[in-house]
Amino acid sequence: MDNSRLRIAIQKSGRLSEKTYALLASCGVKFNVHDQRLIAHSTNQPIDVLRVRDDDIPGLIMDGVCDLGVIGENVLEEETMMRERAGEPSEFVSLKQLGYGGCRLSLAVPNEMEYEGPQSLKNMRIATSYPELLRRYLNEQGVQFQSCFLSGSVEVAPRAGLADAICDLVSTGATLEANGLRETDVIFRSQARLIQRAGSIEPEKQQLIDKILTRINGVMQAKE
Ligand code: PRP
Ligand code: ZN
Ligand code: MG
Repeated sequence: MDNSRLRIAIQKSGRLSEKTYALLASCGVKFNVHDQRLIAHSTNQPIDVLRVRDDDIPGLIMDGVCDLGVIGENVLEEETMMRERAGEPSEFVSLKQLGYGGCRLSLAVPNEMEYEGPQSLKNMRIATSYPELLRRYLNEQGVQFQSCFLSGSVEVAPRAGLADAICDLVSTGATLEANGLRETDVIFRSQARLIQRAGSIEPEKQQLIDKILTRINGVMQAKE
């Protein structure tokens, strides 16, 4: 890879992808996303766009492998907490909340389960892809519980007998409804955020970042 080019990590496909492609396009960063390659070279700027799993983006920034990243705050916060617990580097610079990719991380229980607040989850098994955020919330509530980590398909865990309840992302609520679950507590609200790696960066790259940020501000203001 060419180190003189600015590296931007974005989600390859998922909640944030389309709007992030559109945002970069509206900032005048042209690149071809019609192929399956991991790296898309911008055709008009010294920029490489890395299309990766969203969960990998915070680490790529915190390890200084990419210069910029567009990521959901839920994933960012989870990775930060995980790294702090492990004593690993978790630094990044927050540049901008982008106003899209809104979702919430919520607790949900089977429709037929009685629920009178977080205490109802005492000693239960809760499936989630966000163990740190879940633990922080239930610790604050003083509720002991067991965690069951699943990286996907969390919503089927209660029916499959893997867990009593879940903690997962909700946007429309359709996934919960389709799985006979009801949302009880919102524990974290999230949207897309632009972040930069911590530490020194070449002046040319910083100028390019500043230019992109100015354009993003312009694009977002025009939409207001
Ligand atoms: C999340 C979550 C549900 C879905 C909920 O997954 O795991 O599957 O969105 O959305 P709904 O309320 O509109 O039905 P998603 O694949 O978007 O997130 P991820 O890429 O982080 O797994
Ligand atoms: Zn994901
Ligand atoms: Mg999902």
